[in-house]
Amino acid sequence: MNMKQKIEQGREYLLGTYSQVPVVFSSGEGCTLTDTEGKEYLDFVGGIAVNALGYGDKGLTKALNGVLDSGLLHCSNLYYNNQAIEAAKAICTLAGMDKVFFCNSGAEANEAALKLSRKFGHRSSPARTRVITMVDSFHGRTYGSVAATGQAKYHQNFDPLPQGFQYALFNDLGSVEALISEHTCAILVEPIQGEGGVVPATKAFLQGLRELCDKHDLLLIYDEVQCGMGRSGKPFAWQLYEVKPDVITLAKALAGGVPCGAMLTSERASDIFSPGDHASTFGGNALAMAGVCEMTHRLSETGLCNEVSEKGAYLRSKLGQLVTKYPDTCKAVRGFGLMNGMVLSTPPREVVEACFAKGLLVLSAGSDVLRFVPPLVISKDEIDVAVTIVDEVLATLN
Ligand SMILES: Cc1ncc(COP(=O)(O)O)c(C=O)c1O
Repeated sequence: MNMKQKIEQGREYLLGTYSQVPVVFSSGEGCTLTDTEGKEYLDFVGGIAVNALGYGDKGLTKALNGVLDSGLLHCSNLYYNNQAIEAAKAICTLAGMDKVFFCNSGAEANEAALKLSRKFGHRSSPARTRVITMVDSFHGRTYGSVAATGQAKYHQNFDPLPQGFQYALFNDLGSVEALISEHTCAILVEPIQGEGGVVPATKAFLQGLRELCDKHDLLLIYDEVQCGMGRSGKPFAWQLYEVKPDVITLAKALAGGVPCGAMLTSERASDIFSPGDHASTFGGNALAMAGVCEMTHRLSETGLCNEVSEKGAYLRSKLGQLVTKYPDTCKAVRGFGLMNGMVLSTPPREVVEACFAKGLLVLSAGSDVLRFVPPLVISKDEIDVAVTIVDEVLATLN
């Protein structure tokens, strides 16, 4: 079956929830993907900030094979397994947090944090049940996480949504403060907004949120699903800003590509849930936990985060040169580490498609941002290749 026929079969049977690019990938090595007809693509999407170690990473493969060889692929949370115990210690230590609940995705991690917030609010009388989130945020597609998402386009046609969410303006402390009432139990924020357009929070904003949460006895929750796990140049974005939350949600790169999510709690938030309050059959799955152990090891012991900062600065400087070269099309470059966006004055779709044709995978964020979230192991030479392709594409638009 050739690639075209495979795509036709995919279209026939896969529910049409994505507008999928007409390519079928069959293998990967380093930061390069290969399609079923042998064409190679340099990957600056990384499974949307998932494949932090690229493809075919030897350490990750060895860790996962170790679990497969043991025969214990999965064991119920009614019991302990070695990998979950190791992964829990490693991720809590790396994040400077107290405890962790493992699940399978970002949306599920946020659901856990939302339930935790509500139970925290139920300690007060009358109960406090409202959560403040941000306009242009993205927290997932399940009912709770999509209601928390401050973008109307994700809500359309899905009402009635769960109640109790209020949307403040990102980086506008006054707008958050105006929404706080005796009903509020938590504030949920992405330290660096991802889907909304790669928009970093200001340090003053996060500091202000911390102060408001302390003053009003609210939980401060960071959604680090996209910006966590080394992406910002620090293991966690809170360490970049030096403003610590009470709860962190993680997924995407957490297990290097094996589906995995987590909610980390500080001491203050660690005694809210009791046995029976929350659960996930696959949470703490041995295969995923081996991935978490490998990721945490690489982030804590190999200097990877420093490399991410350095390579990120290099990428931003190269993209900055394109902003100077094409002032009519490129407006600005922003981001931290290897989570970067170039603001365009045209819809990014055309650029994404032209890059794809030239063998470079990039994606959009928000309505006008070209997003670069490559594997954290990308090299400077590969950054040069990617920027050259973007340059060639922008030249054709000017
Ligand atoms: C910040 C953030 N939170 C949550 C999610 C949802 O994660 P998942 O798709 O694993 O449910 C995403 C996905 O893009 C995200 O970027």
